[in-house]
Amino acid sequence: MNVVLFLAGAAVLTWGIVAQRNAGVAAREAAALSVANRELRVRAEVDLKNERAHFESMLEELPAGVVIINPAGKITFANTSAERLLVTKKRDLKTTPLSRFTVDFALAKQVAEAFRGTQVVKEIKVKKPQEMILRAWIRPVLRDGKVYEAVAVLEDVTRLRRLEDMRRELVSSFSHELRTPIASNQATLEALLDMGGDSDPEVRRRFLNNLRTQTEHLSNLVTEMLQLTRLESGASIAELEPNDAAAMAADALDAVAVLAESKGIRLEQSLAAVATVKADRRLFIQALINLLDNAIKYTDAGGLVSMTVAVKGKRALFTITDTGRGIPKDALPNIFDRFYRVDKHRSRDAGGIGLGLAITKHIVEAHNGKLTVDSVLHEGTTFAISLRLV
Ligand SMILES: Nc1ncnc2c1ncn2[C@@H]1O[C@H](COP(=O)(O)OP(=O)(O)O)[C@@H](O)[C@H]1O
Ligand SMILES: [Mg+2]
Repeated sequence: MNVVLFLAGAAVLTWGIVAQRNAGVAAREAAALSVANRELRVRAEVDLKNERAHFESMLEELPAGVVIINPAGKITFANTSAERLLVTKKRDLKTTPLSRFTVDFALAKQVAEAFRGTQVVKEIKVKKPQEMILRAWIRPVLRDGKVYEAVAVLEDVTRLRRLEDMRRELVSSFSHELRTPIASNQATLEALLDMGGDSDPEVRRRFLNNLRTQTEHLSNLVTEMLQLTRLESGASIAELEPNDAAAMAADALDAVAVLAESKGIRLEQSLAAVATVKADRRLFIQALINLLDNAIKYTDAGGLVSMTVAVKGKRALFTITDTGRGIPKDALPNIFDRFYRVDKHRSRDAGGIGLGLAITKHIVEAHNGKLTVDSVLHEGTTFAISLRLV
């Protein structure tokens, strides 16, 4: 019995010692584990921080503005482009609540939507400090299924939208310009068809002449439009070579001599003997012809158109002066715009399309030259091109 008791006691004791020892091990192990866990967690946090810093440094260099917003509406990150677009110091970006910017940038609603889990894209018109169209793309960032923060990507699309507007306007103006001669041709053709074979030859001749004029106008329109598009494409099509200024001016004068005579306009010239400029001969003569053509077109019979080429310091100066109707002061800034004509109807009757000066301006720019205009209403106009001498 005693033996049994003793054995039982020993067993209990042994179990107790073992249990105690086990407990000690477990406690030590648990402690070690918790240290390891903490270390892991700390390391994970450091990793996360490093990774975030890495991402932020990458975002810093992006051309688009990037803003990260926390659920409290505070900006936790903003890159340099955001600073530029939101027109503020980065320091202010981080300390000023987003709602302060939302006055100008109307982002509050979009950010709120992002925190509800929706991705939003919106174009915002900004007035200050300059007019700008900002495209804001805002999306929620999820962590464990919950919106953790919102990221906004801001892009300045002003230039793009302006270009699109310009293209739309160009297509619309061009179609509008095409419509008039096409409609006129159509009407003339129908009249000719209605007349049949036994029409008055004189009337028929007049109609056919009209057809020819309008078709010529259409052809010029398309040619000039193509030329302007090519000049505007940015790729320089001018091949600049040393050319004699006076010789180019003489060629341009030759090209318009018949027109001037038919309109009863005297052409005068005064061309400097030696002046060499770098020019694309064909293009530059075209620019001079455009200016001479206008001078003749917008001057009444009996008037005078004179052309001079002179050397002024290191530049050659080409001037084309007429004694014509002149250009009103308020129209001067617009005359180089495509399809712009001071008097649409009168100019169109004179065969004007409104592309000549736009083309001329591009040609002069392709020559690194300067084009200026001076005009007195009802008295006359002077256009001048200045090019550097070789
Ligand atoms: N020498 C000039 N005298 C008066 N007005 C001119 C002269 N040159 C240009 N203009 C005005 O500028 C407008 C634009 O000229 P341009 O681009 O050459 O087009 P257009 O095809 O009408 O000649 C003309 O319609 C005309 O109103
Ligand atoms: Mg013209």
